Amino acid sequence: MALDLFSPVKLGAISLKNRIVMAPLTRNRAGEGGVPQALNASYYAQRASAGLIISEATPISAMAHGYPALPGIYTDAQVAGWKNVTDAVHAKGGKIVLQLWHVGRISHPSLLPNGALPVAPSAIKPAGQAFTYQGLQDYVTPRALDISELPSLVADYVHATKSALTAGFDGVEIHAANGYLLDQFLRDGSNKRTDNYGGSFENRARLLLEVTQAVVNTAGADKVGIRISPVNPFNDMHDSNPQALFNYVADALNQFKLAYLHVVEGGIHGGGKADPFDFVALRKHYQHAYVANLAYDKDRGNAAIASGHADAIAYGVPFIANPDLVERFKLDAPLNEADSSSFYGGAEKGYTDYPFLNA
Ligand code: PHB
Repeated sequence: MALDLFSPVKLGAISLKNRIVMAPLTRNRAGEGGVPQALNASYYAQRASAGLIISEATPISAMAHGYPALPGIYTDAQVAGWKNVTDAVHAKGGKIVLQLWHVGRISHPSLLPNGALPVAPSAIKPAGQAFTYQGLQDYVTPRALDISELPSLVADYVHATKSALTAGFDGVEIHAANGYLLDQFLRDGSNKRTDNYGGSFENRARLLLEVTQAVVNTAGADKVGIRISPVNPFNDMHDSNPQALFNYVADALNQFKLAYLHVVEGGIHGGGKADPFDFVALRKHYQHAYVANLAYDKDRGNAAIASGHADAIAYGVPFIANPDLVERFKLDAPLNEADSSSFYGGAEKGYTDYPFLNA
C-alpha cells in the first residue's frame, strides 16, 4: 500500500504515529518572564494527536527576542513552564520538539535588555515595523555582530538545547528560516560581511553549520531538525541566487544525518512575491528525511508523501483552528475556519476554544 499522511514514520530518533506535523506557530501568550503557563500546556495537549508538534519559535537568550509575550528557553522558570507543556503532550501520547530561535535584526531596543540594539550579520535596517509593547515601531539599524561574539552566540544555542532536553522535549528544531538571524546570515540581501561569515555560500552557511554541529553535539543528530525558507521574502529578505545557495545548504547538511530538514516552500504572511524555486530539485540534494510546509491540504500532503517528495507535512493555520486536524483529515470532515484576529496575543479565545468534532 502506498504511504500516506496516516503512515507512521521515524524522523531520526523520534517515532511519529502519523505524518501530520504541527508547524511552529507564534502565538504571543507566554506569561511574565517568558514562562509558559497552564493555558499553553492545554493548547499543545489539545493538538497531541499530531504525529509531531513543533513548538512556537522560542528565543534562546534575552537578546533573541523580537515580539511581545514570547516564551523563552534559557531560564530555570522557563524550563519548568515548558516541562508542564511536554508532560501534558506526552500524557496524551504526543511528541514535541522545541524550535530554537534568534530573531537577529527583527526586533526593537524596547524588547531587548537595557534597550540594546538588535544584532545582525550586517548593519542593514529591514523595511517594516516591529511589534512592541508600545505598538508598531519602525525597525532600527541593527549592530553588526563582531566575529569575536559568534562563539558566545553558538554557546547560547547549546545552553538552550540543554534547557529544552531538561524540559522534556523529544528534540529541537534550529530555526534558520523566515528572515531571522541564521537566515540573515545565509542570504546576501542581509549579509554583506567581508570576513569568513560573508561572501561565498560556504561563508554565509558557516554560522548555521557551526550552530548545527554544536546542537548535534549536545542533543544527538537524531533529535535535531532544521527549518529553512529559501525564497520567503517576509522580513525584507532576498538572495541573488537562492537555488544554488540552498542546494549548497542541503548538500552541506547531509553530513549531520539530522532527524529532518523542514522546508517552507514559498513565502509567508503575504510578505511579497517569492522568487521562482524548484523544491523538487532541492529535495534531491538532501539525502535524509524532509518535512514540507506551506499551504498543503490533505490531498496535496498525501500526494507529496506518496511520491517521496516529503516524509511528513507540516500544517500551520489548519492546526490553529483544528486541534483534532488528524481526525478531521481521517474522516474527511469539514475544517474550522481560523480567525486571524486572535493569532497573536490574548488568552483562550482563538487559542484553546476551537471546537473538536462532536464536541
Ligand atoms: C511571526 O511572528 O509572524 C513569525 C514568527 C516566526 C516565524 C515566522 C513568522 O518563523
